[in-house]
Amino acid sequence: MSPELKSLYREHLAVLADRADAALARGELDHLVIPAGVLKYQLFDDRDYPFAVNPQFKAWLPVTQAPGSWLVYTPGHKPRLIFLQPRDYWHVVPEAPSGYWVEHFDIDIIRTPAEATALLPNSNARCAVLGDADSAIWPMVPNNPAPVIQYLEFHRAYKTAYEIEMMREATRMAVRAHRAAERAFRAGSSEFGIHLSYCQAARQDVVDLPYRNIVALNEHAAVLHYTGLDTLPPKPSRSFLIDAGASFNGYASDITRTYAMEEGPFADLIQAMDQVQRSLCGKVRAGTDYRALHLDAHLAIAQVLRDFDLIHVDPEVAVETGVSNAFFPHGLGHGIGLQVHDVAGFAESDQGGTRARPEGHPYLRLTRDLAPGMVVTIEPGLYFIDMLLEELKDRGLGPSVNWDTVAAFRPYGGIRIEDDVVCTDNDPLNLTRTVWEAQ
Ligand code: GLY
Ligand code: MN
Repeated sequence: MSPELKSLYREHLAVLADRADAALARGELDHLVIPAGVLKYQLFDDRDYPFAVNPQFKAWLPVTQAPGSWLVYTPGHKPRLIFLQPRDYWHVVPEAPSGYWVEHFDIDIIRTPAEATALLPNSNARCAVLGDADSAIWPMVPNNPAPVIQYLEFHRAYKTAYEIEMMREATRMAVRAHRAAERAFRAGSSEFGIHLSYCQAARQDVVDLPYRNIVALNEHAAVLHYTGLDTLPPKPSRSFLIDAGASFNGYASDITRTYAMEEGPFADLIQAMDQVQRSLCGKVRAGTDYRALHLDAHLAIAQVLRDFDLIHVDPEVAVETGVSNAFFPHGLGHGIGLQVHDVAGFAESDQGGTRARPEGHPYLRLTRDLAPGMVVTIEPGLYFIDMLLEELKDRGLGPSVNWDTVAAFRPYGGIRIEDDVVCTDNDPLNLTRTVWEAQ
């Protein structure tokens, strides 16, 4: 591990400690206690679900496979890790803590979950215990005090330099895999085959990925969260939309690309959307209201619709009447970090409150002002979705649309292009494209 990463981690931990101090002060509490979580089992079955670590836990340390472990932070003290490493010859047990982070913790290894009790505070009266009910070990029952959670989640939007490095590595893994997926598409693979090529190149199994891969050929690209995986390729394979990321030390990347098999109008439409997307990425600047960016995206996409003779009305009219919503029916993007859809996207402040979505845009996931350190996705789309286009007709807006052009593009499904972009004090840092160009 590079000396630089070691110092970045130290700085990251100092930021977390400062935030925890402030959050505990808000809650008038003395200790932050965070269970990593427990394994969950399928109903009436002995099979467990993939373990999903408590994000509040993995914020502190690069450990994601630690069911039954706990973190305790008391202002002014070194954080304490109670690490469950069971004696178990049936399963792979979590590895003993090692690496650049361990020197910053007092670590107790326990062999059974119950051993944590003696090491945790003996009452939760003065504790903020952040977790779910299944993680409780009496008397350490999660209480999730709102002032503490609101503070931590609001500030988690502002990434430390260490976190940006984690996301850069998650991006490197995903970019490598995206390239392999494009090769598989061009070689005529099925969706399932492309998905396997992706996982192989990312070196991640499905349960390691930050979300389920969206691998959509032809019309399937019109399903926003298409997670089917046809095992046979369509004949012919015309278009390919892939929305897939990777995880590194608990941090996510989230990247979407769309390809045409051949030159022609759909390839040109991808080019036009790529221009729109790049221009929106350039607007990720401190002080900008993300809602304004979303509305900018609608206007730009409506201009593309007009340029490609998909609509008969001016872009402004298409946005006002809701015609652009039928072609671009999701939000421009979201915060990203420890979770692919990061928390507190609507937070008014670190003391609660909600910033509303713009009227008529119910799927936007981020309504905050951008500020240095925030990492957001920029993912404009343009789709041919029968259900939404039919609704336009029902609303009397059929004459706004050129149905012949729509029919010609419909077999290609749609387009989405998505990058992860860091807001800075100056120009934005496009994590996805800088890695894509360097790799
Ligand atoms: N990458 C999937 C999404 O952002 O919804
Ligand atoms: Mn996304």
